[in-house]
Amino acid sequence: MTAAAPATTNVRASWLLGFWHSAIGKKAVMAVTGIFLFVWIFLHMAGNLKVYIGPEHYNAYAGFLITMGAPLLPAKGALYAVRALLLIAVWLHIQAATQLTLMNRRARPVGYANRDYVSAGYAARTMRWGGVIIVLFVIYHLLHLTFGTVHPDFIEHDVYHNFVTGFQVWWVSAFYIVANLALGMHLYHGLWSMFNSLGLSHDRFNSWKRGFATVFALVVTLANISFPIAVLIGVLR
Ligand code: HEM
Repeated sequence: MTAAAPATTNVRASWLLGFWHSAIGKKAVMAVTGIFLFVWIFLHMAGNLKVYIGPEHYNAYAGFLITMGAPLLPAKGALYAVRALLLIAVWLHIQAATQLTLMNRRARPVGYANRDYVSAGYAARTMRWGGVIIVLFVIYHLLHLTFGTVHPDFIEHDVYHNFVTGFQVWWVSAFYIVANLALGMHLYHGLWSMFNSLGLSHDRFNSWKRGFATVFALVVTLANISFPIAVLIGVLR
């Protein structure tokens, strides 16, 4: 009895390792972490829309993020839990993407035989560049609106003030717009490949998948680029 338990654990561990090392395992990891990141990005965008209701509402929303989980968790407890999950998801997503690219490069014969492979290669390249831009954007964004390190006039806990004064710098707004356009393309292609990785690759799902990916990517992108534009044209001040 006692010897059987470690043997079962070993079998499970080696199955998990084998799954992680397979192309299908990496695609599954990308799909599951992708869903988590998509949901988070959507909720983040929806929360930011509160900025249009007014400074009190927006700052109250930022306050809610600190106290959510109370009284079960201490202040910022749930926030740190979500941050940890985000870090793990981003790390796994990038690891799986990099390793899949390397596997594909090793497996692919030199040159392309037909147009489909050419367009698949184009989408993959767009995803890689989009991914790099998004990572650079998130690093800048955290230093800008969370830590205030690169912000010209950061006031701790006055998120509305940081938002407006941050986007009044035109080149910062321009960078946010470019990065969010790259994010929109990444979301569109990512959603499309996620459906395929989850087995919905049949032609009859194509229009449904395209519609969903387009609407989701468009809503997030339009809302996100509306924030710097609203500040630049004086709608938010
Ligand atoms: C123009 C669009 C966006 C605006 C206006 C915006 C605004 C903000 C603000 C104000 C904060 C600080 C919140 C606080 O301290 O309470 C924040 C945090 C953050 N944002 Fe954004 N954001 C935008 C887009 C994005 C995108 C596209 C991503 C990811 C791809 C992202 C990732 C994050 C992360 C990871 C945090 C830190 C969350 C935490 O404190 O745990 N943001 N954002």
